[in-house]
Amino acid sequence: MNERMKMLFEKVPAVILATAGTDGVPNAVPVGAKKILDDETILISDQFLNKTLANLKRNPKVSVTFFEGHEGYQLKGSVTIETAGKRYEETAAWIEELGNKVGFPLQSKGAVILKIKEIYGVSPGPGAGKKLA
Ligand SMILES: Cc1cc2nc3c(=O)[nH]c(=O)nc-3n(C[C@H](O)[C@H](O)[C@H](O)COP(=O)(O)O)c2cc1C
Repeated sequence: MNERMKMLFEKVPAVILATAGTDGVPNAVPVGAKKILDDETILISDQFLNKTLANLKRNPKVSVTFFEGHEGYQLKGSVTIETAGKRYEETAAWIEELGNKVGFPLQSKGAVILKIKEIYGVSPGPGAGKKLA
């Protein structure tokens, strides 16, 4: 992601995480616990993922869409899920703190790490759907 995409990714309250089951049925859900690890990697914390998680275990390919106003981007790639280790521990601490802040207990079950392979624009207009990276 370039600087502009990263700025928008961080600014939006939630992004749409889309997965597909092996039966081909799509499943798209909003997720707000998201972080940028580097230009090609994002992390999503799993507190409540259910059908999404079942899909990811069989098919790790996802798309993640985010937008504000008429500007939007779609990331595509494959995820790995970490339920132990440094990145998971840091995610668990972050989510626990988030829960304390909102006064509602939250627990991370895993860190979903997306390695971005392709980026598409989804802004309406002549560039709609074009591959950007
Ligand atoms: C605004 C918003 C933000 C959410 N953020 C997260 C999140 O960061 N992590 C998470 O696991 N679930 C989050 N959820 C819940 C998921 O969207 C969804 O309920 C969960 O994945 C279960 O759906 P599934 O069975 O299709 O996976 C959020 C829901 C909303 C409405």
